[in-house]
Amino acid sequence: MFSRRLPASLEANRISRALEAARARGPLIDLTETNPTRVGLRYPEREILDALAQPGALAYQPDPRGLLSARRAVAGYYAERGATVSPERLFLTASTSESYSLLFQLLCDPGDRVLVPEPSDPLFELLARLAAVEIAPYPLRYHAGWYLDIEELEQKLDDRTRAVLVVNPNNPTGSFLKRGELDRLERVCAERSLAIVSDEVFADYWFAPDPERVPTLAPGPAGQRRALTFCLSGLSKLCGLPQLKLGWIVAAGPAELVREAEARLELIADTYLSVGAPVQEAAPRLIALISDVGAQLALRVRTARAELAARVSGTALQLLDAEGGWSAILRVPRTRSEEEWVLQLLDDGVVVHPGFFFDMPEEAYLVVSLIAKPEDFSEGIERLIARVHAGL
Ligand SMILES: Cc1ncc(COP(=O)(O)O)c(C=O)c1O
Repeated sequence: MFSRRLPASLEANRISRALEAARARGPLIDLTETNPTRVGLRYPEREILDALAQPGALAYQPDPRGLLSARRAVAGYYAERGATVSPERLFLTASTSESYSLLFQLLCDPGDRVLVPEPSDPLFELLARLAAVEIAPYPLRYHAGWYLDIEELEQKLDDRTRAVLVVNPNNPTGSFLKRGELDRLERVCAERSLAIVSDEVFADYWFAPDPERVPTLAPGPAGQRRALTFCLSGLSKLCGLPQLKLGWIVAAGPAELVREAEARLELIADTYLSVGAPVQEAAPRLIALISDVGAQLALRVRTARAELAARVSGTALQLLDAEGGWSAILRVPRTRSEEEWVLQLLDDGVVVHPGFFFDMPEEAYLVVSLIAKPEDFSEGIERLIARVHAGL
């Protein structure tokens, strides 16, 4: 009776069932917490509520690309990062997840394929399925840091592939695309008429500068993208406001292709017109919160990462290299499976993700969120280290 776009079974897995039972027993330290509104940040509440209560929010001004004042504010965000984005190249959406759906509808027929990095967030698989699109993974390799092997990626392309998805920086690996990698990726995509979709929701969260890093695929002042490219971001991660539902798509690439893509994207966006007026009116003031809430989050993740590195040094855990993002990957001894480590940690009152949740290549890894409340983070990591040492 129901669509095959949805998973055949919705039954909870062993970890989810154990988590539910542990929650019923009492409070847990959640090292999978990625909801910024729950981690003790200081939000300028009055400012946010005032911004959302402007008279313009009472008018309905449908525009498939979104309100020009909001798009100008987003263009300003890119200008501050050295990219030149005209408000004409921008589409506002209700979230990055929605941006993906619109782009899958733009680029793919049912059964077409999109290449996605592995390891990465399980979100993409479900978003693709819901659009009747197949995903095929291309591996990110780890050897003294994460890198993209473009030959391996090329081997994954077939005549149904329509786009390559890059997550910059990727979650949970925290790896950014490097200039040389992008150069080769663009060449391959331009030659084969593939689009590049660049998810940049974590772009502002880097630990140390690196001139080789690609901060965004939005073009610089002299730059053009060689392949049709879409950059995605939004308020969710940049200013810790996922509940306000504002994301965006920047289109770039060869002019004629961009024109054709935008005309079609406009039709799709016009069919939904899903972004609410209050958040569009508020966008300039909300984007300005990157220097407040965004800065708190950036400090939070850098501090947590440094603490984690210091705490695991000399233990049986290894912290994998990362350049940014909100997650950290810990290699744990293979004396237990990832599932067993996760279940034992639940007994200790600590929630972590197993590496397989993100399709990590081999056992055994655990993934923790760097934005958890600092006191929870410290206590959770202490229990984690104790558990691993007890399990040796
Ligand atoms: C890499 C990545 N992209 C996109 C999203 C979704 O963002 P949004 O809240 O804007 O839909 C997430 C959310 O967790 C994410 O981790």
